[in-house]
Amino acid sequence: MTLAMTGKVAPYKRDFGPMLASVWHAPYPCRLTGISVDAALASLQEIFSQAITPQDVAAIVLKPVQGEGGFHIAPPEFMSRLRALADQYGILLIADEVQSGFARTGKLFAMDHYAVRPDLITMAKSLAGGMPLSALSGRAAIMDAPGLGGLGGTYAGNPLSIAAAHAVLDVIDEEQLCARAERLGAQLVEHLERARQQNPAISEIRALGSIVAVEFSDAAVAMAQGLLLTCGPLGNVIRFLYPGRSPTRSSDRRSIFSTLCCVARPQPAPDARRPVPPERGTPPVLFWPRAARPLDAQEIP
Ligand SMILES: Cc1ncc(COP(=O)(O)O)c(C=O)c1O
Repeated sequence: MTLAMTGKVAPYKRDFGPMLASVWHAPYPCRLTGISVDAALASLQEIFSQAITPQDVAAIVLKPVQGEGGFHIAPPEFMSRLRALADQYGILLIADEVQSGFARTGKLFAMDHYAVRPDLITMAKSLAGGMPLSALSGRAAIMDAPGLGGLGGTYAGNPLSIAAAHAVLDVIDEEQLCARAERLGAQLVEHLERARQQNPAISEIRALGSIVAVEFSDAAVAMAQGLLLTCGPLGNVIRFLYPGRSPTRSSDRRSIFSTLCCVARPQPAPDARRPVPPERGTPPVLFWPRAARPLDAQEIP
């Protein structure tokens, strides 16, 4: 079922054969490709008129902040109108917060940025700080529907992972990681905006708290090399996902942001490129995109 639901064909669905048929994908609003909120909702109406009647739809599942899809952020109007549409037809609205949950966006959940609530929220990843744990939460009427013992699994309720999740929630609270995500994200965006002035290939910088994306007009510029994590249908978006406890002190920030921002700087012509001085040892880059070079210390803003 979930394989049918992912919107990314390669590498996830390729070679897996036929998928479950009763899953439809609708476009997500996107400024750069001109998909407005109206257009995104119109495509849903098209599905309702050509593929399945809305009365037969069990759920609309969306990510308030896309992951693999390109780190697009759902406009508030889109979320409100989706909620209204779901209510109109008795469809469940499910927010996938596997990637966006737990303080990354500056709030505990990305859905906390919106005026409306989903019926269910899926969570994992940061939930237990890397320990294997996923969870589903939602309206009591839905959660209680399966009856006692009706929802289970081999790893459900794993005590070690649950202890880790408690620790994660304590740290988010005690160290105010929501506010920290806001600060780190704002700092990174500021650096990237500066880099953008030197790199016309950057077409958009998107951020919600610490979830930050840089979209390039040329996919080759953003091509994955080393550990670079790209996303979007064209692979032309670089996504920044860093630990929520990353230091915010200026001195520590410099090394983090120089690493992150080097990717967004244009590379000088090959003959003007200087070799990395040997005393620097391994340069502070995790990745080496073709159109980027590491910054010298004096260049770090
Ligand atoms: C937003 C989002 N939803 C769902 C999943 C899949 O989660 P799981 O691996 O727990 O099935 C991922 C995994 O990367 C994800 O990023």
